[in-house]
Amino acid sequence: MTVPLPLSAAEIERTRAPLERATMLPGAAFTDPGVLDWERANLFRGGWICAGHVDQVRERGQYLMLDVAGESVLVVADDDGLPRAFLNTCRHRGARLVFMPEGTLRRLQCPYHAWTYGLDGSLRSAPFTDGLEDFDPGCFGLHAVRLAVVEGLILLDLSGEAPPPQDHIGDLATHLAAYRTADLRRARRIVYDVGANWKAIAENYSECLHCPGVHPELNRLSHYLSGVTYEGAGAWCGGSMTLAEGVETMAVEGTPHNRPAIEGVDPRSILYFLLFPNALVSLHPDYVMLHTLWPVAPDRTQVVCEWFFEAPTMAAADFDPSDAVGFWDQVNREDWHVCELTQAGMSSRAFTPGRYTTQETDVHAFDVMVADRYLEAALVS
Ligand code: FES
Ligand SMILES: [Fe+2]
Repeated sequence: MTVPLPLSAAEIERTRAPLERATMLPGAAFTDPGVLDWERANLFRGGWICAGHVDQVRERGQYLMLDVAGESVLVVADDDGLPRAFLNTCRHRGARLVFMPEGTLRRLQCPYHAWTYGLDGSLRSAPFTDGLEDFDPGCFGLHAVRLAVVEGLILLDLSGEAPPPQDHIGDLATHLAAYRTADLRRARRIVYDVGANWKAIAENYSECLHCPGVHPELNRLSHYLSGVTYEGAGAWCGGSMTLAEGVETMAVEGTPHNRPAIEGVDPRSILYFLLFPNALVSLHPDYVMLHTLWPVAPDRTQVVCEWFFEAPTMAAADFDPSDAVGFWDQVNREDWHVCELTQAGMSSRAFTPGRYTTQETDVHAFDVMVADRYLEAALVS
């Protein structure tokens, strides 16, 4: 059943205009449960989303459990250490197979009546089914979910019908490859519960106009006007910022750190990218961050934030990521605060969408990606 989109083509078109004339997304896009239902069905279950980084599923049996817009999905490394994705639903009586966000499985066995599956999803053992008529174990493997790994990012397509993943990620792959994101190791993961719409968080990530006021500590390390916008093929937007004179890393100031820049990258630049719809990828000279956004309600989003470093850096005896993690944990919390203020203000009955400033080209670019998808649905209905 298709989910109707409670927005008109006319109000969506106002966002798709060039920035100088455009109006921001309608308030209902941030507050109406019907819009979120549509987005969950069409953006999160209907195309590529980012599930995380391959470092979480490198070893046989290592797994992640994700709630993708109401579908529980298991991503697990198979016998060859390659990630595969399945619906987290047993083919016997439907129990969840795993119930922790991540971990390592010795074997994939349902906790209810012990049906056992291979890490390729095939049904291997189902007690007391030998005498059944017309029961073919080959037809009772786990439901597979389409998965692709691009430069270390795990992408899922629950619809199975999205265009090739290379089309989705486009030229962003080149930037990720330069940082060898596929080889990086995860050092930390923090999960935040944010009282704001997922798009408000994506928009906030896409501009630094708020940085002098909201993140004075960040603005000292890289000036909010120091960046340029990048363009290229694929469903992403973003650009660069430049480290201030004498600054080597975005971290708590005054903390000694021992992290060489990733070989071959510009040690003065930080690249910030948003891969539609739910991944925020920040490429720093000496580490990489990944935020993934998981809408829970129109005014609530779970944000998973992870920090990645090169393997030799992490293997050093004195490796300590707390200066980078602590810095961004504070910046994250400052961001969530203003996102929550925005969400609260937008719920005013008098709210009407604002105008983009000339410092919000990436906010506009993200909103246009959303509006393009809305418009397809509005025109169909
Ligand atoms: S529900 Fe999984 S074995 Fe019964
Ligand atoms: Fe911010």
